[in-house]
Amino acid sequence: MLSVDSHLWLPFTQMQSFDAGRRTFVRGAGTTLTDARGHRVFDATSSIWTIVHGHAHPRIVEAISRQAAELDHATTLGATNPAAEALADRLCGISGMDYAFFGGDGASAIEAALKMSLQYWQNVGQPQRKRFVRLTDAYHGDTTGAMSLSDIPVFKQRFADVLFESVPYDRFRERLGDDVAGIVVEPLVQAAAGMRLVPLEVYAGLRERDALLIVDEIATGFGRTGTMFAYQQLGLEPDLLCVGKGLSGGVLALSATLARRPVYEAFLGEPGESLHFFHGHSFAGNPIACAAGSASLDCFEEERTLDRVAGLARHTAIGLERFRSHPLVREVRAAGLMIGIELRSEAIPARGFASAAWRVAEGLYESGHFTRPIGDVVQLVPPLSSRPDEIDAFFEALTRELERCA
Ligand SMILES: Cc1ncc(COP(=O)(O)O)c(C=O)c1O
Repeated sequence: MLSVDSHLWLPFTQMQSFDAGRRTFVRGAGTTLTDARGHRVFDATSSIWTIVHGHAHPRIVEAISRQAAELDHATTLGATNPAAEALADRLCGISGMDYAFFGGDGASAIEAALKMSLQYWQNVGQPQRKRFVRLTDAYHGDTTGAMSLSDIPVFKQRFADVLFESVPYDRFRERLGDDVAGIVVEPLVQAAAGMRLVPLEVYAGLRERDALLIVDEIATGFGRTGTMFAYQQLGLEPDLLCVGKGLSGGVLALSATLARRPVYEAFLGEPGESLHFFHGHSFAGNPIACAAGSASLDCFEEERTLDRVAGLARHTAIGLERFRSHPLVREVRAAGLMIGIELRSEAIPARGFASAAWRVAEGLYESGHFTRPIGDVVQLVPPLSSRPDEIDAFFEALTRELERCA
């Protein structure tokens, strides 16, 4: 357990006030995390949009342990392995893409997509295409390239001096110049912007374009919005598709940049031509993570997960109704099982917490629901394996908490 003299430094966490006594997780099973006090909480954000079929799903646990005993790791720099091959095949099968380039966290899939786009245009003789276009309120991760594509000040303003400029895609009916390498979009919902729903007309403008279309499914992929990938609801044809988080079932760091054949083919040539992709990470295509990914896709088939999500999303939409007219709620946003409930923070005293939403989240934790606010937004992005009564219990706890905090 983390103590005052712990050596652990946590992401996006003020360590001075962090209380390890209340947030040290020692066990995960199904939709529940257990902390060191023995307090059990519903993992209402799926551990920030990662866990898909619940914690410690037996099929995924078994695949990981079998693969670890057989081939734990082997570099994929100029080598391959059956687990990575198998997952690449299956990913291309379900996404309609043609090739999978593996990375680790989501941001590494975005970095690969950026560099792949730049080198693609060099390889096909249009090296002037260097600029990237992004949506309003975009978020694509915390590495330097990914931050450059993001639009939310809190995530990038401290580092603005070393970022490159990206172009907002607000005026989506305007023609883009021939210096644009790629247009990067989150499909349907922008999770880090507080589950912001993107106006659909934004995507309509993307069908006619010269630049590469890069779709970031890192948060939305693997069933969260009702379809395997959110872009499938929008009629988009990505040139590059970034996946992460839920790719391994959400249990190991694994991401991928999926490419269409014409992009891949631009990197083919004789050894001396140096056309191959100049990018790679040590753990790309790690067999254990890939085995977990294939086991997760097995679960989707065997447990008919997408059918289940459709039912659960309908149930959730009904439960959400009560918040739409709630005096302490500004707005309710939902896309499948990605839900944001924006509070009227001015009407709720923060009482020593960072914000009203943090105060509400703290109360929820004590009543057995672990969520993390985004600004004034209370989020619910449950594991796809959640039961309807777990969603109901979350809504009841939130209703009680709003009454208590008012
Ligand atoms: C849409 C989107 N893209 C990229 C990322 C970055 O993923 P990671 O945190 O795994 O680097 C996130 C993370 O929340 C995300 O929501």
